[in-house]
Amino acid sequence: MFKWAKWLNGKDTEKEIVSPNGRNKCTVALKSKQIFYKVDRDNKPIVGLSRLGFDICGEKMLGNNLRVIRIVTKNIDETVEMLWGEDRLIKNKCQEVAFYCAEDQEPKRIFTLRFRVYDNAVAFRYEIPPQPKFQQITIADELTEFNIDLNTTVWKIPAYQPDRYEYNYEKATVYDLNHSVHTPLTMKTPNGCYLSLHEAALYNYGAATIKLSAENKLKTDITPLSDGTKAHVSLPFETPWRLIMIADSAIELTTNRVMYCLNDPPRGDFSWVRTLKFIGIWWAMYVGEWTWAPGERHGATTQHAKEYIDAAVRLGIPGVLIEGWNDGWEGDWLENGINNSFTKSTPDFDLAEVARYARARSVEIVGHHETVGFVDNYEKQLEEAYNFYAANGVHFIKTGYAGSQILIHGRREYHHSQAGVNHYQKTVELAAKKHICLDIHEPIKGTGIERTWPNLLTREGARGQEYEGGAISPSHACYLPYTRLLSGGMDYTNGIFDLANSVKRMSTTLTRQIAYFITIYSGMAMAADRPYIYEERFKDMLKFLRDVPTNFERTVPLAGEVGEYYVVARKARNGDWYVGGVTDETGRKVNIGLNFLDEGIYRAEIYADSNDAHYRDNQFGHTITAKNVSKNESIELYMAPGGGFAIRLSRSK
Ligand code: NOJ
Ligand code: CA
Repeated sequence: MFKWAKWLNGKDTEKEIVSPNGRNKCTVALKSKQIFYKVDRDNKPIVGLSRLGFDICGEKMLGNNLRVIRIVTKNIDETVEMLWGEDRLIKNKCQEVAFYCAEDQEPKRIFTLRFRVYDNAVAFRYEIPPQPKFQQITIADELTEFNIDLNTTVWKIPAYQPDRYEYNYEKATVYDLNHSVHTPLTMKTPNGCYLSLHEAALYNYGAATIKLSAENKLKTDITPLSDGTKAHVSLPFETPWRLIMIADSAIELTTNRVMYCLNDPPRGDFSWVRTLKFIGIWWAMYVGEWTWAPGERHGATTQHAKEYIDAAVRLGIPGVLIEGWNDGWEGDWLENGINNSFTKSTPDFDLAEVARYARARSVEIVGHHETVGFVDNYEKQLEEAYNFYAANGVHFIKTGYAGSQILIHGRREYHHSQAGVNHYQKTVELAAKKHICLDIHEPIKGTGIERTWPNLLTREGARGQEYEGGAISPSHACYLPYTRLLSGGMDYTNGIFDLANSVKRMSTTLTRQIAYFITIYSGMAMAADRPYIYEERFKDMLKFLRDVPTNFERTVPLAGEVGEYYVVARKARNGDWYVGGVTDETGRKVNIGLNFLDEGIYRAEIYADSNDAHYRDNQFGHTITAKNVSKNESIELYMAPGGGFAIRLSRSK
């Protein structure tokens, strides 16, 4: 009673929200009529007292002179079912408290702060209802702080750079974050706790980047629009959830699924959505055999497409991507892309004929839209472009936004700005209407919206294998599970077997290329090399390429450290298990306890680096063995420098 009076009077007071197992405690405090939060785990501080609020254009800042007029508490305990992904069932168990805040001086605005405290996360968002004199607002800045120890280790990629999210991770401390960095921003505190700052349910708002403020506190830096503001919104408006994932170890962090719990259930019937493995008219362009542009070496011809469809049938891979079939790739496509057509083919390509050929062989075509960031040009054609694919029975589209910024509403904007976020959302919703699934390259980062829009099967959104040939080191794919992949699946373009190609030399061993199908989850997973490479040179790997699924029942993280190595087991929806591992430049032995298996005998097919394999000078050295195993056994394996392994465990017949 006494405390409640304090909230109402705007006197200094606080409320603790405790996670179901009691380990995480979030304290929300009113101090000098401003609202703050802090987070402790096991009674040790993780996030110190941190400010909340907004600067709003032409108005007083929102976050001063506050009283809390109502506090509503709720226990959430439910199971979320995902249509596809790494885990079918996700436990959504937390304590929710909503703080209804009101200014006690003019203009007497109101807003709600909703907190959710989980055993493995703290999340909160702002909800601003419409008010008589407060209906359309322009947000100048979001003031949310994360007051984290300056000596905390972070693994970062820079924000606002020309290659969007496609950078190598660097180790630094919070103290070094004087430039904005992207989320998920993964950290290790001085007392050994692993955190990742991220957001969930990003709609109609700029993506949050993170930066050290002048007061030496980490703070959200919302990606601005070209007019310098952060977002123009009409009320009611809910910000994305600010999400702090919390774990005792790096490997535990990798299966944090709170992001999905903070998103809404599917909006509509998505029972038609299927995940997909595909090959494509693609890597041949990267190694210079074919071109995107028309000409003698044009990749996307009707003839080549049919050959790839036939190869897909032989390989047992259900999809074929075709890039470079449309008008606009001539000359410098990055410059000329402003005129791309998404319905007009080059003279040597006939989509209707290719689609008919694919349909007769039960192969799915993955269409392609490279916008080159010219979003206005794309949006003009959007409806027609999606109708064109839909009319030809194409159920999957890979989109792309190459270029350092996007051109939208006649202005150059960041991909990650409110304008960008709204454009990507428009494509997802239009695709859903047409029963089309998307693989978005140069996307907006994942914030779990695929729970609501399951037709958004995957994204790129990090440096992928297209950067091989010099710009990727073996540690890169050992960072991803602890950083980028906390925001959802990634189209890393796995399975390049032509490792020693003179144009694109890979920084991996052979077995690592199949390990990626397990260590880097993607609802649309590409076996990216050319079919003749698979069929002529690596017949012993084809069974795995065919068997490995793109949809899992359950994921069990096994071992690893950020940027060093990662080992994971995944149960397929048919009951088989897959285990994969990758290591950095250091070779290492791993002992894989099989107690995740169900009862019974399993046949283990083991694809491993040979003892003398090395990503630099013996990339192909590998062994394939098979044996019967059960859950009380373990398998010891060696991962060569830049190597990895893959195991398929199927019930012994
Ligand atoms: C970059 C994408 O990541 C890549 O997959 C695509 O082939 C090129 N852009 C051209 O669209
Ligand atoms: Ca890319």
